[in-house]
Amino acid sequence: MSSPADPGESTPAVADRPGGVPLADQVAAISWYHTLELPGGVVTPGFFDHRSILPRVPLPADLQGRRCLDVGTFNGFWAFELERRGAAEVVAVDVLDPRRWDWPVGAEAATRAAVGERHAGGDGFRIAAQTLGSTVTREDVSVYDLDPARVGRFDLIFLGSLLVHLREPVRALEAVASVLHPGGTLVLVDGIDLPLTLSHPRTPVARLDGRGRPWWWTANAAGLARMLEVAGFTVERGPERLFVPPGAGWRLNRWDWRLARSREGRYHLIVAWRGDPHAAIVARR
Ligand SMILES: C[S@@+](CC[C@H](N)C(=O)[O-])C[C@H]1O[C@@H](n2cnc3c(N)ncnc32)[C@H](O)[C@@H]1O
Repeated sequence: MSSPADPGESTPAVADRPGGVPLADQVAAISWYHTLELPGGVVTPGFFDHRSILPRVPLPADLQGRRCLDVGTFNGFWAFELERRGAAEVVAVDVLDPRRWDWPVGAEAATRAAVGERHAGGDGFRIAAQTLGSTVTREDVSVYDLDPARVGRFDLIFLGSLLVHLREPVRALEAVASVLHPGGTLVLVDGIDLPLTLSHPRTPVARLDGRGRPWWWTANAAGLARMLEVAGFTVERGPERLFVPPGAGWRLNRWDWRLARSREGRYHLIVAWRGDPHAAIVARR
């Protein structure tokens, strides 16, 4: 088990050191996935900015007394939100070494490039947790390896923007189910294929990527719900469509219509224009 201050995972945050670097400089030194409001008015320039969609994400307003898990936490936005809502305990899991992500064949160069980037991502959680005074416990555990003997069981689990990156999303959901108390709640907010959602509103379908990057099955909204069902969940609410807005760190900083020629380029344009298409679902075990 590793806490935010555990020195074992990567370079300790500079805040640990007496006379350390100002928070704003620490923040500027690494890349951020999440937009986080830190003390002193420091806001991290995340690729995404989830703040405006919080009211639309079906998380209980009050989590007092509940043991919660955030799967694939990255910089910890959702884990800190669970904590802010009063959870008795929050555990966050992530795979800190990108070499252990689900890469397709032929992605060696991309994997190497991600190693440096992701290292900084691990530090982002640490910096945020320390400065927020968070008690969230982060563990370096793959979703596939979630096991009640290792992490216990939870009352509520949040899983966001992860299934699209997994070779075996249903196996991952089965592992998630194994650490959820019977009757416990899963809040899933994951990427969906927008054209497939519009063209197939009821039929579960998915598009397979797997070309050079850890993107696998992007389902339509109905497909996301069906994945939950086949993994043993009962869908209680949703799918509800929402768009995750780009943050100040989003890489597309100027319009270029040539992007429309490739699928990845079109995705970037949609995110810049509207946000990353997602669906939110509440399910029970
Ligand atoms: C796109 S980010 C999503 C961050 C956050 N969950 C959210 O919804 O904003 C994907 C995260 O999943 C993590 N990840 C990748 N493979 C994983 C695995 N097998 N088990 C757990 N986390 C994984 C990555 O390290 C990264 O932190």
